[in-house]
Amino acid sequence: MSVRAIVLAAGKGTRMKSDTAKVLHDLCGRPMLWYVLQALRAAGVADIYVVTNAELQGRMDEFNASGILQEEQLGTGHAVRTALDAMKPDGSGRVLVACGDMPLVTPEVFSAVLAAAGGNAMALVTARVPLPSSFGRIVRRDGGVERVVEARDANAAELEIDEVNAGIYAFDETSLRDAVMRLRSDNAQKEFYLTDTVADMVGSGKSVVPVVTPDPIHAAGINDRVELAVARQEMNRRLCAQHMLAGVTIVDPASTSLEPELKIGRDTVIYPNSSIGRLSEIGERCAIGPNSRLSNARLGDEVTVRESWIYDSSAGDRTMIGPYARIRDNAQLGADVRIGNYVEVKNSRLARGVKASHLTYLGDAEIGEETNIGAGTITCNYDGKNKNKTVIGRDVMIGSNTSLIAPITIGDGALTGAGSVVTKDVPAGKRVAGNPAKPLPGK
Ligand code: UD1
Ligand code: MG
Repeated sequence: MSVRAIVLAAGKGTRMKSDTAKVLHDLCGRPMLWYVLQALRAAGVADIYVVTNAELQGRMDEFNASGILQEEQLGTGHAVRTALDAMKPDGSGRVLVACGDMPLVTPEVFSAVLAAAGGNAMALVTARVPLPSSFGRIVRRDGGVERVVEARDANAAELEIDEVNAGIYAFDETSLRDAVMRLRSDNAQKEFYLTDTVADMVGSGKSVVPVVTPDPIHAAGINDRVELAVARQEMNRRLCAQHMLAGVTIVDPASTSLEPELKIGRDTVIYPNSSIGRLSEIGERCAIGPNSRLSNARLGDEVTVRESWIYDSSAGDRTMIGPYARIRDNAQLGADVRIGNYVEVKNSRLARGVKASHLTYLGDAEIGEETNIGAGTITCNYDGKNKNKTVIGRDVMIGSNTSLIAPITIGDGALTGAGSVVTKDVPAGKRVAGNPAKPLPGK
């Protein structure tokens, strides 16, 4: 038996007051819709159709799902009909329907509704919520579900019902195709309601099974930016919990921002006010933060990052960074490197044991093992037109306040005096000083 999913995401999302489609709004580093698709896949549903509006349709490539454009948004029933029209019929298939704006949904909820659909025409997820509520109400008779009434169509007694429709359903495909053809739009919103399929099926003697979710947060739909912020908090809490349970210490989860798909090793400690994102990979026994930001960073074991930013860069085992350093754009720091305060490293390779402890800019540089970069060193890599390369050998001593005018090569074991402006290559083992730097007598 095949299972396909239809994800409803064509709505205008007017309450976001945004130029961006609602389901594309960011939640912990991913669009809301990403989480729904992820939960579906984790529940084993790989064949996913997303009902889109024009803007979302243009972005569907990112999601690895089929987008089906619903040109006019005539309601959830119309959205499902539009999707079914584009899907090859499968007489014995099941169709799971969910909304793209419920990023807190879990794979377990999808699995439960699919299991409940079993040999029935339909199963739907319900939740008990505090009133008042804008959710559709579940009207029961003799224990079973009789129909769903939208809040805007409900009478006073129906509005007192605190069991609501979560907006997640599993259908027998044939029964669904049948029922959506009969939907009408004679209601308060003049829309075709998917929820009317419940009464339709019950009316024709088919069984509709409710699945009460234990935690209504799984059904929380995001409609405005206040709800988005609440959902972000919940998602971030889950992400932190997942890493803490896997052996990472997070001193203050509330001020730590994580994204999905991070790798963080055992016994790493994350100090407050830090954010880690974009597929970063962090080794074991590292110390990150406080006040640090890592984005697409790859760190070995026992790396220390204090009050610093690392973007699109890597660092080897035992390397220490910060406080107040900025490592960016493909900086590759080897093992046992020391990067101190007010040091910026961009697109450079620093071999094992390099030290740049204070007030330095290293851009487009390659630096050999155990070389010491004195305080205030600048690689002058930009001549106004091009970025030029600085190559520094191993065991080099760059004196404090040296300017290296690139392109330039400093040989192994060389030395530059404090305050040098080095304009010409320095051969291995030679010592230079001055402005412009000249060879020192003796060597
Ligand atoms: C819907 C349910 C309601 C349930 C609630 C749960 C209906 C009629 N009502 O109400 O019982 O309690 O969800 O959140 O289904 N969409 C489209 N095309 C359309 C209309 C909507 O793709 O033409 C999408 C929206 O983008 C959204 C989802 O369907 O993701 C739900 O639509 P929305 O208008 O928000 O329905 P609700 O009023 O929340
Ligand atoms: Mg809604």
